[in-house]
Amino acid sequence: MEKEQVEALPTYSDAVRPWHKRRRRRRTIRLLAAVFLAYFAISAFKIARNTTKPASALSTERLREDHATCTRLRTVPVEPKGTRDQNKRWVKGTKPVLIRNATIWTGEPAPGTSAQDARAGKGWEWINADIFIDHGLIKAIGENIEHLPPDTTIFEARGRQLTSGIVDMHSHAGLGSVGNLQDDVNELSKDITPFVRSLDGLDPLQPEFDFIKSGGVTTSLILPGSGNNMGGEAFVVKFAVGDSSGRAEISQQDMLAAPDAGLRWMKMACGENPKRVYGIYGKQGPFSRLGEAWEFRHALEHARNYVRSQDEWCAAADAAGAVAMTTYLPQELKWESLGAVLRGQVRVNAHCYTIPDLEAFVRHTNEFKFRLYAFHHAHQTYLIPEVLKRTYGGTPAVALFADNMYYKVEAYTASEKAGKIAYEAGITPTYVSDNPVLNSQHVVFEAAKAYGYGLPYHAALAGVTSAPAMLLGLGERIGKVKASFDADIVLWDSDPLSVGATPVQVWIDGAPQFQDPVELEKPLSPPIKPESSLAEDLAMSELPEDIIFTGISHDYVHNGTNVLEDASNIVAIVKGGSLSCVGFCKNELLALEESGTRVIQVRDGHITPPFTAFGSALGLIEIDAEGDTQDGSPPKDGITRAVDGLQFGGKQLARAYEHGVAKAISAPTTYSIESRGVSAGFKSGAKNALEKGAVWQDEVALHFDLTLGAKNDKSSISNAIGSLRAKLLDAVYANKTEAAGKAKYEEKAYLKRVVESALPLVLSVHSADTIAAVIRLKAEIESVKSSLQSSPKHVRLIIVGGAESHLVAGEIAAAGISVVLAPLLPHAQSWDQRRGLTGAPLTNGTAIDALISAGVTVGIGVEELWETRDLGLLAGIAYANSEGKLGFKEALDLVGANFDRMLDIDLSQKGLKSEDWVIWEGSPLQIGGRVRAVGGLGRTSVWI
Ligand SMILES: *[C@@H]1O[C@H](CO)[C@@H](O)[C@H](O)[C@H]1NC(C)=O
Ligand SMILES: *[C@@H]1O[C@H](CO)[C@@H](O)[C@H](O)[C@H]1NC(C)=O
Ligand SMILES: *[C@@H]1O[C@H](CO)[C@@H](O)[C@H](O)[C@H]1NC(C)=O
Ligand SMILES: *[C@@H]1O[C@H](CO)[C@@H](O)[C@H](O)[C@H]1NC(C)=O
Repeated sequence: MEKEQVEALPTYSDAVRPWHKRRRRRRTIRLLAAVFLAYFAISAFKIARNTTKPASALSTERLREDHATCTRLRTVPVEPKGTRDQNKRWVKGTKPVLIRNATIWTGEPAPGTSAQDARAGKGWEWINADIFIDHGLIKAIGENIEHLPPDTTIFEARGRQLTSGIVDMHSHAGLGSVGNLQDDVNELSKDITPFVRSLDGLDPLQPEFDFIKSGGVTTSLILPGSGNNMGGEAFVVKFAVGDSSGRAEISQQDMLAAPDAGLRWMKMACGENPKRVYGIYGKQGPFSRLGEAWEFRHALEHARNYVRSQDEWCAAADAAGAVAMTTYLPQELKWESLGAVLRGQVRVNAHCYTIPDLEAFVRHTNEFKFRLYAFHHAHQTYLIPEVLKRTYGGTPAVALFADNMYYKVEAYTASEKAGKIAYEAGITPTYVSDNPVLNSQHVVFEAAKAYGYGLPYHAALAGVTSAPAMLLGLGERIGKVKASFDADIVLWDSDPLSVGATPVQVWIDGAPQFQDPVELEKPLSPPIKPESSLAEDLAMSELPEDIIFTGISHDYVHNGTNVLEDASNIVAIVKGGSLSCVGFCKNELLALEESGTRVIQVRDGHITPPFTAFGSALGLIEIDAEGDTQDGSPPKDGITRAVDGLQFGGKQLARAYEHGVAKAISAPTTYSIESRGVSAGFKSGAKNALEKGAVWQDEVALHFDLTLGAKNDKSSISNAIGSLRAKLLDAVYANKTEAAGKAKYEEKAYLKRVVESALPLVLSVHSADTIAAVIRLKAEIESVKSSLQSSPKHVRLIIVGGAESHLVAGEIAAAGISVVLAPLLPHAQSWDQRRGLTGAPLTNGTAIDALISAGVTVGIGVEELWETRDLGLLAGIAYANSEGKLGFKEALDLVGANFDRMLDIDLSQKGLKSEDWVIWEGSPLQIGGRVRAVGGLGRTSVWI
C-alpha cells in the first residue's frame, strides 16, 4: 500500500521542483521505465514458456498487474516513525532556525515517568531550552546547541511558551468559501458515498487557512460533512499554501500533511443529519435510525463480499499463478474505499451523538471487524464509557466541543464535564472545531475551557496536540516538540490554555508562516499552575438563610477597582440574598457567629455584578433546532414583545445562571441576532415571570434585523432600510397624543417612543456599508426632528453584530451609536462579516480595539445561546489582548454595566443594586474562575 501510494501521488518535493529539473527527472523516469519494460518483457517470455496459456483470452499483462495489486490489498500502512534526514514537505531554501530561550511543552512527561503517574498528571512540566530546526525537522532541544550552520536564523523567544503546532481533527476548512457562498462539504446525492474524497473539493485559495493558522493550528483533518451515513474519505493537511509559504505553486497536493505515509481516513455519521437529509416517507431512506443502521450494514456487507472475492482471487492466483486465472481480480472503484476500511487501511471517524447511535455503531464495528478511531460530537459518550470499550479493535477517542451544546435534541443531554469524565474512564478526549461551526483558529480555547471544566491540564493540551496526532496515525511526526518530529511549532504570548493566548509566530515544516506578525504587548507570564480542584464537581443549592463567604480578594460591586488588601480576613456577608457587608465586618461577624451562620470558604473570591446576555434568544429558545421548544419566529408584520413569550426553567437559563449570567435582555428572533420586536429584561435564575423581580423591565428596546437575514422577507437591504426610514419619519410626523389601549402595543407606538428618545432602537448589522446607511438614516431622522422641535434629543441607537464595525469606528462614535459585538471575534461566516478582523498575529487588534479607541460604548453579545457560558471569558479575551487599554472593571462592564449605559437604564430606579451580585472563586475573566454564589430574587444560590 505504502509504496503504491508514493508512486501514485508525486512526493511533495516533486510538486515544488523547478521546471527544468522536473524535465530532467522525467527523462530519468522514462529511461528507467524503458529498462523496466525490457526486463518485464524478458521475464514474461521466460514465464510464458513454463506455464500453460490461460484458457480464456485474458491479458496476461493485466493478470500479472492484478496479482501485484494483491500485495497492495494485503498491506496495512504503518504509522510513520523513526529518524529522517529531511521532512518530505521541507521547501528547499528554508533556512535553519534556532529558537532561543523558550519555555517548552514537549508533549511528553519527564523520562522515567510511569504511564500511571503520567495519566495522573505527574511528570509533566514546561522546560526552558533552545530548539534547533532544519530541513523541516526538529533537530535538537537543549541548552547551548552548538555547531549551527552559518545561515541559521536566530529567533529570541524571550522565555515565552512554545508548543507543537495545534492539530484539529475535525475541520471542513477549505470546503466552503468565504461567507458560505460555495459549499463542497457534503456530497448529498446519496446516503452512502464512502468513495468520494474531501481533497477533491479542497480550495487552497481560501483565506480562512491564514487566520486558522494564526491561531497556531498547523494541521487539520479535513472531513466531509455529516449529511451522509458514509460521507467519504478525509485528508490530513497542513496550512502552508502557495507563495507566502515558499511554494512554487498553489496546490492541494502541497497541503497533504504526510504525502509519503500512505495513510487514509474516512468520515461516517449517525443520527439526525442523514435522516433529515434523505428520509422521504414512503419513498426513500434512511427515514429513521433503524434505516440508518441498515444502510451501514448493507454497505459494509457489500464491501465485505467485495473484499472476500478479492481475497479468494488472490489466494487462487498465489496457488496457481496469475496467468492461470480465468477472471481478472474483482475491482470496483465504488467499493475500493470501504473495502480498504475492512482491510484496516483507512482510519474511520464517525459523527455520532446519542446512545442508540453510538451503540449501533459499536455493533457495526464488531459485526464487520473494523476499527473506529474517534466518535465526533459524541455528546453522550460520557454516559457510556463501557459501551465504547466494546468497539472492535480498541476504544475510540471522543472528539468534543468544550461547551457548544443544546443546539439540537442530540446535543441537549451534553455535559461540559464530558471530557473530564471520559478521561477518568480511560478514554482519550480531543477538542475540535468542526470549522466553520467553531472557528478553528480558536480550537485551543476549547482545550482551555475543557481544563476549566475539570479535565487535567496535560490532557487538555494533549487534546489539541499529541492525542489527535496519534489518532491520525501521525503520532511520531507531529503533536510533540521532540527531535526528529516535523518542525511544526507555535510560540505563544502566554500559556496556550490561558484566556486570549495568541501565537507570536508559527512554523510549519520549519518555515515561519508570518512575515510581519503583529505581536500583542503582553507582560511575560509564567505557565498556568494546574489547579486540581477544578475537577471537583460543585452542585447548586438555594439557601434562604444568611451566609458568610470568606477569602474575598476583589469587590467590583461596591468599589470600582477595589483590590482588597488582606484577602484572608475579608468576608462577604449575605442576608436575604443581598450583600450586607463586604470587608472585615467585625461587628456583623460577632453577631452571626454566635448564631451558627453557615460559612463558605472561597479561594481568591471576586465579587462582581451579574453578567448580562444581550440581544439573544435566551429565555425564548431552548433547543435551537426544535420549534416546539421555542416561542417561535416573530411575524413579518407587526411587533411582538419578548416578555409575552418568556419561558423559564430551561437548561439554557440554568447554564447561563451558573456562569454568572444572571441577567438577560432578549428579543423575539427567527435565528441568532436576527431579531424583530421588543426586548425584555429579566433574570435568568427566576422560576417564572411572576416571581418578584423576575422581569425587571417589560420593554427594553425595539429591535430590527438588517443582517443578511433581513433579505428573507424584505427582498433587499435597501428595502429594509427604506422601510425603516419611512416608519421612523411617520413616527416623527405623527400626532403627539399618547397611544392608548391596544394602540400602545402597535409598531407605530414603539416607533414613536424611539423617535422621542424614550425607547432605544437596536439594529442587527454586520456590514460596514449597512452601518453607514444606518448612520445616514439616523442623521436624517434627527435633522427632521430638529426642524420640528426646538431642542430634540438624539435617537438612542445600538448596533448588534458589528463584524465590520471597525471600518467605520470613528463615524459610529461621532454618531453617538453604541455597538454590541456578536460574535466578539467573527470569522467570515457570512458575506456581510467577511471583513471582520481576526486579530494578532494577522491583524492589528480586532473590532473591539478599534471601537474602544474611537470612544464607542461597546458590549459583548451572544450570537448563539451556548456562548452565554463564555461571556466572562470573552470579556477576558478583550481584557487580556487590549494591551492595557482596558481595566479589569471596564472589561466586566463589557458584559454588564455598558448595556445599562447604552440603554440609558437607571439602575437606581430599577432597584438593581447590592442584591445583584455574583461571587466567583478565581477571576471571572480567566479559565478556572467558577461561580460559587449568585444573589438577587431574595435568595442565594450557592455551588458547594
Ligand atoms: C530568557 O528570557 C527571560 C525573559 O525575557 C530572561 O529573563 C532570561 O534572562 C532569558 N534567559 C536567557 C538564557 O537568555
Ligand atoms: C470602598 O473602598 C474604599 C477605599 O478603598 C473603602 O474605604 C470603602 O470602605 C469601600 N467600600 C465598600 C463598601 O467596601
Ligand atoms: C391627530 O390627532 C387628531 C385628534 O386625535 C386627529 O384629528 C388628526 O387627524 C391626527 N392627525 C394625524 C396626522 O394623524
Ligand atoms: C496598531 O494600531 C494602533 C492604533 O490602533 C497603532 O498605535 C499601532 O502602531 C498599530 N500597530 C501595528 C503593529 O501596526
